[in-house]
Amino acid sequence: MAFPDGVADFRSDTVTRPTATMRQAMAAADVGDDVYGEDPTVNSLEEEAAALVGKEAALFVPSGSMGNLLGLVTQARPGDEVLCVETAHVRNYEMGAAPAIGGLQFRTVASGSGEIRPSDVAAAIEQSGYHFPRIAMLEWENTHNWSGGTVVPFELMRETSAVARSAGLRIHLDGARLWNAVAATGIGAHEYAAHADTVQFCFSKGLGAPIGSILCGPADVILEARFLRKRLGGGMRQVGVIAAAAALALESRDRLGDDHFLARKLGEGIVARFPEAVSLGQVQTNMVVVHGEGLPVGTGELQARLADAGVLVGSISRHSLRFVTHRDVDQRDVGRVLDVLGTL
Ligand SMILES: Cc1ncc(COP(=O)(O)O)c(C=O)c1O
Repeated sequence: MAFPDGVADFRSDTVTRPTATMRQAMAAADVGDDVYGEDPTVNSLEEEAAALVGKEAALFVPSGSMGNLLGLVTQARPGDEVLCVETAHVRNYEMGAAPAIGGLQFRTVASGSGEIRPSDVAAAIEQSGYHFPRIAMLEWENTHNWSGGTVVPFELMRETSAVARSAGLRIHLDGARLWNAVAATGIGAHEYAAHADTVQFCFSKGLGAPIGSILCGPADVILEARFLRKRLGGGMRQVGVIAAAAALALESRDRLGDDHFLARKLGEGIVARFPEAVSLGQVQTNMVVVHGEGLPVGTGELQARLADAGVLVGSISRHSLRFVTHRDVDQRDVGRVLDVLGTL
């Protein structure tokens, strides 16, 4: 359902607002000083998250960006390279944190969809060594944001990660929307995470919490991440008030299938009118990318007309818009989008 002011916000799944139940849980949370490791709500969330993804330990962090940064800088040294796709969130949308703070550089694979093949890793390893920077890590993003929430195939992750591991690379999974991949494929989070050493996932995306992400991995890596989180100013105190909302969000992860259903309905509705505007094969989770070439008006014009109708949508390039479904939009809001498209 749209927000109380009637606005249906499809810009991102980060826009959800805490439910009444979440706010109650936050108010009632049992808390302590987490910098001393004494917040019971945080401790139990960290234990639960680590168990869900099959890792030894976990660290609650304020954002997915911090989770990614810590996952990389704990496992690579300044001057090392991290292999990722050129459209990776960690490379393009995290303010250059890994290079600026960790001294790492990215080696990129040309892939619009988040896929990295075993041959990409083999080629990068060949160009690593005395005359080249050392390649230390492989980074996955699943689901892959830039391509519209597509799922990186599990088998591909397995094969590519095996090549990386055999060459001694560490592997980090940016699972900001890992639970969307799980909902779309039925493959367990621990199964995806088995092909990485560290995984971060976000409570603040489709899961619907107001804040928070978590980095999971081997106990020694998480201990180092805890140290570095504090160095970055990310040591939080009675943060159980936030962890309580995150725990509820995690409990409700089965509802992500509803968001995927809604995205599909939206994609199909758009294609019924403008067949070239959406590649339905790309609508795998909670995002729909609309290509301007398939529309009779520019994407800027469509965005403006939607805004006039109280519908917000994000632009991801000069010629494409991205609709993201989440807990705070519903079938009626999808209908509002299709009504506007019907007037073009
Ligand atoms: C794939 C991906 N990774 C990481 C992040 C970073 O999360 P945060 O905004 O909490 O820093 C995002 C945010 O949208 C994302 O989409």
